[in-house]
Amino acid sequence: MTKLAAQGLTLGYDDRVVVDRLDVEILEGKVTTVVGANACGKSTLLRGLARLLRPRSGVVLLDDRPLDDLSTLEVARVLGVLPQTPVAPDGITVGDLVGRGRHPHQGWFRRWTEEDEAAVADALDATGSQDLVGRPLRELSGGQRQRVWVAMALAQQTEVLLLDEPTTYLDLNHQVELLRLLRDLNARSGKTIVVVLHELNLAARFSDHMIAMSDGRIVAQGAPGDVVTAELVEEVFGLRSMVVPDPVAGTPLVVPL
Ligand SMILES: Nc1ncnc2c1ncn2[C@@H]1O[C@H](COP(=O)(O)OP(=O)(O)OP(=O)(O)O)[C@@H](O)[C@H]1O
Ligand SMILES: [Mg+2]
Repeated sequence: MTKLAAQGLTLGYDDRVVVDRLDVEILEGKVTTVVGANACGKSTLLRGLARLLRPRSGVVLLDDRPLDDLSTLEVARVLGVLPQTPVAPDGITVGDLVGRGRHPHQGWFRRWTEEDEAAVADALDATGSQDLVGRPLRELSGGQRQRVWVAMALAQQTEVLLLDEPTTYLDLNHQVELLRLLRDLNARSGKTIVVVLHELNLAARFSDHMIAMSDGRIVAQGAPGDVVTAELVEEVFGLRSMVVPDPVAGTPLVVPL
């Protein structure tokens, strides 16, 4: 089943087209990673899927309904988004930031409920950031801050999560932990997850479906074992490599030559 689809989607900035008539289907209940070289249009595509960027042409469908037919609140309740460089209000604390993830669920009077409290606690707990709750965001290390942003996205408890490079600034252990957490969330609640990732080997290991982009186009998509080949790595990244089975998971492991 397709959860989110783009049809003939063209996206750009000012007079520049970045993503040109792209078709893509995000499968429901799967973890999809988007990979590709810097500036190829990954973040632009994610913004388009999240309606943060209006299409020049084409359409994005959520559960077969055009995103344009949905209210901002409806979109926010279904699509949780973590941009590549999120911006927080000055001086905000960790607890307040993660609490903002609950706004789409609150009614007119923004009444804070036990459900909100529990969602925030769960998100802080899942990302190992409960100890940071009272601290100002700006005083955190890069990795701590990144985990808090992920917590904010989780607190939204949406059916779909779109995360743009959520592992940036994380040490290797925390990268693996975060990807495990996403896999776990997916297994427990069937959440549809789309992640832009630069770590090809981790992407291959933790996703069901991979989308490789180059110059605003999709050049390959499918199971990691079919997508990640030496030819693809050369085409997309201009890197000569050998692709061998990961000795632990059996998924493709890219070894640069
Ligand atoms: N707000 C913007 N205004 C104008 N041009 C932009 C804007 N954001 C991105 N671009 C341009 O669009 C192109 C694609 O950018 P995008 O951020 O989608 O790349 P990316 O694949 O996410 O790269 P990275 O891996 O570096 O994050 C780039 O050439 C970039 O300069
Ligand atoms: Mg990007």
